[in-house]
Amino acid sequence: MESIDRIALLTGGGDCPGLNAVIRSVTKAALRNGMEVLGVQDGFGGLVKGQFTLLGEKDVSGILPRGGTILGTSNRDNPFRFPMSNENGETLVEDASDIAIENMKQVGAGALIVTGGDGTQSIALDFSHLGVNVVGIPKTIDNDLMATDVTFGFDSALQCATDAVDKLHTTAESHHRVMVCEVMGRNSGWIALMSGIAGGGDIVLIPEIPFTFDGIARSIHERRDHGKKFSIIVVAEGAPLPDGQQVGWVASSGNMVLGGIGARVAREVEARTGIESRVTVLGHLQRGGTPSPFDRILATRFGVSAVEMVLNGEFGCMVALKTPEIVSVPLEEAVKNQRKVPADGELVRFARSVGTAFGD
Ligand code: F6P
Repeated sequence: MESIDRIALLTGGGDCPGLNAVIRSVTKAALRNGMEVLGVQDGFGGLVKGQFTLLGEKDVSGILPRGGTILGTSNRDNPFRFPMSNENGETLVEDASDIAIENMKQVGAGALIVTGGDGTQSIALDFSHLGVNVVGIPKTIDNDLMATDVTFGFDSALQCATDAVDKLHTTAESHHRVMVCEVMGRNSGWIALMSGIAGGGDIVLIPEIPFTFDGIARSIHERRDHGKKFSIIVVAEGAPLPDGQQVGWVASSGNMVLGGIGARVAREVEARTGIESRVTVLGHLQRGGTPSPFDRILATRFGVSAVEMVLNGEFGCMVALKTPEIVSVPLEEAVKNQRKVPADGELVRFARSVGTAFGD
């Protein structure tokens, strides 16, 4: 087995709480095992541009509780479709993966640890097919990666969403209003469902359970009939409207940005019930700030395990939590499917049992 002296480490995709904890644990564990870590700046873009920084103990000291990533990140730069030039206002993309691989060789990086969600891990898999020694670490607030019980970042986002639902009760109760809280999660409803359960949301709207506005209004009227003058609705940004369309817009990157469903729900509910309705969109607050203790610990376990996989020559794999253990799973398995809320699963059933409605 070839001996590896240097590991390149990058963070890709959207930032999330716990990334710095991973950078710290990878660096500390690698140094203790006689390897150096080269931090790649701004995700895969930095790999193509050859932007590496040697990370020492001092660089990772004190970053455990910090949100974001000291390396920077991007969800735009795919080396296999890399923006190389601009012609008449149109960006031309080329396969720059060979440049990225050559850059790794130049700096003596024998392995690449990639921290990211499904998009980032798909790119990691493509590099693995080209013979790069890749190890993946799963992160995302959405918790939508199939191969792991949970990703780090999710618990901190859930904490943020639950705090918001708790706080929205104040105005809901005082003004007898409907308060709508729009949370992130892309095409998965984990943040909405779990903050709805944890915060006592009355109606939870998620992509996995189609809703109608009449269904929502019916639940609000039923609550009124039982003397409950307010309602809290938690809606996932990716929950489609009754016509099946998600609400959002296409960004300059070409990515669909989800957002705006909360305002639609508030407007339709007020029109149908006559009850004053307001919306709060949590947005990137869910990705910011200090990671929860759970996320710090999970990120630390993932980072150390990734270094152990490099030492064992176990490549083309991603670390994953299969409670109570950290295991390694093939990258193929990690990116195959998105993890969705089972519409007839235990969590939804328990939520319904305590009176939570889903607008269906
Ligand atoms: O995947 C994490 C996430 O925060 C999603 O919940 C959300 O849809 C998306 O990223 C937003 O991405 P951006 O920061 O690029 O708008």
